[in-house]
Amino acid sequence: MCGIVGCTGSEPVRDILISGLKRLEYRGYDSAGIAVQQPGSEKLTVVHRVGKVAGLESEVANQEILGTCGIGHTRWATHGRPSTANAHPHTSCAGDIAVVHNGIIENFAELREELIGRGHTFTSETDTEVLAHLIEEAYEGAPDGTGAAEATHDLLRAVRRAVRRVVGAYGIAVVCAQEPGVIVTTRKDSPIVVGRGETASYVASDIIALIDATRDVVVLEDGESAKLTPEGITYYNEAGAEIEPHVTHVDWDLDIAEKGGYPDFMLKEIHEQPRVVRDTLAGRMVGGELAIDELGLTYEELNLVDRVYVIACGTSYHAGLIAKNLIERWARIPTEVEAASEFRYRDPIITTSTLVVAVSQSGETADTLAAIRDARIKGAKVFGITNVIGSPVARESDGVIYTKANKEIAVASTKSFIGQVVSLTLLALSLAQAKGRLTTGQVRMLFSELGDTAEQIQWILDTQGPAIDEAAEAMKDAPSALFVGRGIASAICYEGALKLKEISYLHAEAYAAGEMKHGPIALIDPGFPVITVATQSPVYDKTVSNLKECEARGAKIIAVATEGDEDIKKIADHVIYVPRVRDCFTPITATVPLQLLARSVALLRGCDVDQPRNLAKSVTVE
Ligand code: M6R
Repeated sequence: MCGIVGCTGSEPVRDILISGLKRLEYRGYDSAGIAVQQPGSEKLTVVHRVGKVAGLESEVANQEILGTCGIGHTRWATHGRPSTANAHPHTSCAGDIAVVHNGIIENFAELREELIGRGHTFTSETDTEVLAHLIEEAYEGAPDGTGAAEATHDLLRAVRRAVRRVVGAYGIAVVCAQEPGVIVTTRKDSPIVVGRGETASYVASDIIALIDATRDVVVLEDGESAKLTPEGITYYNEAGAEIEPHVTHVDWDLDIAEKGGYPDFMLKEIHEQPRVVRDTLAGRMVGGELAIDELGLTYEELNLVDRVYVIACGTSYHAGLIAKNLIERWARIPTEVEAASEFRYRDPIITTSTLVVAVSQSGETADTLAAIRDARIKGAKVFGITNVIGSPVARESDGVIYTKANKEIAVASTKSFIGQVVSLTLLALSLAQAKGRLTTGQVRMLFSELGDTAEQIQWILDTQGPAIDEAAEAMKDAPSALFVGRGIASAICYEGALKLKEISYLHAEAYAAGEMKHGPIALIDPGFPVITVATQSPVYDKTVSNLKECEARGAKIIAVATEGDEDIKKIADHVIYVPRVRDCFTPITATVPLQLLARSVALLRGCDVDQPRNLAKSVTVE
């Protein structure tokens, strides 16, 4: 969703801010802006507009913006429609304080009314603007002295005083014309990272905006704040005392934010999946034993687990559906998968022997975080599976597995899904071993086959492109499509349908194939696309029967099938092959052609596959 970047140094920051904002584009946004201190001026230069960062870049290109300290923002509308007035940065009445903010200020309506009553003029509909006015009051003293102490004339103190009035989530960066070269930042429930480059200090809401400048970053904790100057950065705890920061080294490849020769990030990330499998498994089998030290639970504690909830959203939820199948199959522990947004508002049955597994690529998803907190209060152990080091999901869980997908830029999750499924498979194997349901020998054999999926994905990538493109061409103009499969393949179909609709805007639904005749089959008329995962499995024949019912009504059938299955061609119009794998590993292979199919359809329909409309990469609001 929203993104923050800020820099203070000795060089003009305009272009640094614009390139930082470009790094944040993947998160999804509808408007963007910057605020820069102008040398010798009592005001700030603020430029904000609706639309892409490229538009902002053209607008500022011809302006004389020479300041060496500034902040920038990409906004994804929550309070107030996407508009230039609502785009950040937001300023105080005098225009000398500017704020960029991620998160939501829940009591903004009451604060706004209060501030208007004290003579402040608002120029936007956003919740953020109250912060600019609150900081102004703390800096200058309130005009009539109501509700504020004396003027601080100190940006750090003013920010710290202002945020005490705020209920909600915030990560903010603030500049003030009276304090040249100073940026103040603080956070609560919304990430802020700070880093020192060779000659400048940087702040951002996401490490990716800093990686050109530094690999050593400080992830602020809730309540902490930092004061950045061209010479260095000072960190403070919630009480305002100076603290030593904990520095995290980021070892991502520099080309992480580049397309590396691929036409889009989505294709690049799909092609990274063999590596993701290998990296996620690296070091997990030590001396013939499964090694997942980060679990934070002993085998004895795992043995006590009698119920598992997997909580997640979107694609991560689909990874959870696969986990349910594997945990119940191997460990025989009853497992429920719930959308985090539902879990948090009901009263799930949780005891101290319940294990809650929270799955989140970004590690920031608001609903998943709220569900984690709720589960822990109720006594469950929470285990996080995330892709982002130091993310809120990682910090708030009792144990965590990092998926080793590396930064995912395209909004549609692909490689992070594969990383999640592989990690959840490891968790299921651990639970099965702890429960004594699988022997060490069985675990080793399954682990080895899991490792083979890296090569098998590579085979799909190397050989199936033409078949996928043909299938895409055949369905690109359809108004709707159905994905059907049975058993573990139905979970793959849910993910395939989500991928298709989110990037191509072609309506798609997924059903367990056995459900077709209970309703969805009414949709089938000649040419209606039915996409199926009909790989070899104990329910293959059942799936084929369901497909025949669709074929009889004229459906255009696109089948993902096992290499060598010639019979499937009798009912399918298009066949995409995947290598033969054990049924439980099908999600790791058969999802890949569905990702590629969604991308091909989206491109044929002229869609932006990396940044689909209305979507954000990290959904940090409820
Ligand atoms: O970061 P998370 O895994 O918690 O995100 C959950 C969903 O928002 C995410 O998977 C979303 O559905 C993606 N756009 C799917 O491609």
